[in-house]
Amino acid sequence: MGRNGTFRVVAREGFARAGELETPHGIVRTPAFMPVGTAGSVKGLAPWELARLAPEMVLANTYHLLLRPGIEVVAELGGLHRFMGWSGPILTDSGGFQVFSLAQLRRVSQEGVLFRSHIDGTEFLLTPESCMDAQRRLGVDVAMALDVCPALPASRETLEQAVKLTGLWARRCRQALPAGEGPLVFGIVQGGLELDLRRQALEALLPLDFDGYALGGFSVGEPPEAMWQAVGVLAPELPEDRPRYLMGVGTVRDILEAVAAGVDLFDCVIPTRNARNGLLHTSRGPVVVKHARYRGCPEPPDPQCTCPTCQTCSLAYLRHLYLAREAAYVVLATVHNLHFYLTLMRQVRSAIIDGRFAELRQGISADLAAAVE
Ligand code: GUN
Ligand code: ZN
Repeated sequence: MGRNGTFRVVAREGFARAGELETPHGIVRTPAFMPVGTAGSVKGLAPWELARLAPEMVLANTYHLLLRPGIEVVAELGGLHRFMGWSGPILTDSGGFQVFSLAQLRRVSQEGVLFRSHIDGTEFLLTPESCMDAQRRLGVDVAMALDVCPALPASRETLEQAVKLTGLWARRCRQALPAGEGPLVFGIVQGGLELDLRRQALEALLPLDFDGYALGGFSVGEPPEAMWQAVGVLAPELPEDRPRYLMGVGTVRDILEAVAAGVDLFDCVIPTRNARNGLLHTSRGPVVVKHARYRGCPEPPDPQCTCPTCQTCSLAYLRHLYLAREAAYVVLATVHNLHFYLTLMRQVRSAIIDGRFAELRQGISADLAAAVE
């Protein structure tokens, strides 16, 4: 056993890596996809259903928990793990991104970001210090630094400002949670598609010796090809011996491209949100569950899938539950879609270990292309 926060690369293929990150709640085997549990719950799943899916790590949002039920309530009850009934690793996003995408009446200053809750209008001031304190009190395994994430396209000046403030805040975040105390802390690189700004942002973070480095500000309005290209250049420039996290990404294609560039961690609402909206991911491409062609279909969503939903349910049944707005539909669809993503990540990891990731990536990309036709 190494120091908490130790990241070991156990295999490589090109820039792609398979790794192990030690956290207080277990080892995170990478490349890994984190299901999104925004408000302390992966939407649609009971804790035992999440446990059965066995993700390596789950993401929760400081922003949502701060607004409701309040950090104090969760801390008093023994922390977020006990509160949400999940005993594996948890990473919390800092709230930076959510303030910029959800909150009202925000004012950004050097001190922090002042905003009103999107739920009831209550005013909050999130500073690097209060943000790290909140994540420490939640008792999470990995805390994200407070950052500024502009939507793209953004002017050079906007991106420069975001990089400058994110750098200043990163220093204060690190001071508030030094190495070896409380959660691991990951710094976030901003800078949009301007590679020189991205490099400048990284230079500012490196002396702070973060436990991991995230690429933020992607999948915020730019074409996927632009992201693939930038991530392809930037990921290999992040420290070799620390986990690399591409925030808020993405599609299966996005993930394969980023893994090939050396990214280790991902989170995205796609599998869970798509499930709720009636879109199932399968080895044969996307299935729109409401489609009339499934009215009498006895097959499961994916005959190759080993998830509990595919062992139990026909597409005809799932279609019926979806159209009847039955609550069980969300559970069944979410279990399937997350199983699909998590299985993909396990296949990607063992392919890297066996030196056949390039082959796997090509095979899946070809399947995706065929499914679109
Ligand atoms: N989630 C997706 N993108 C981002 C980002 O740029 N910053 C933060 N904090 N969270 C994100
Ligand atoms: Zn399934």
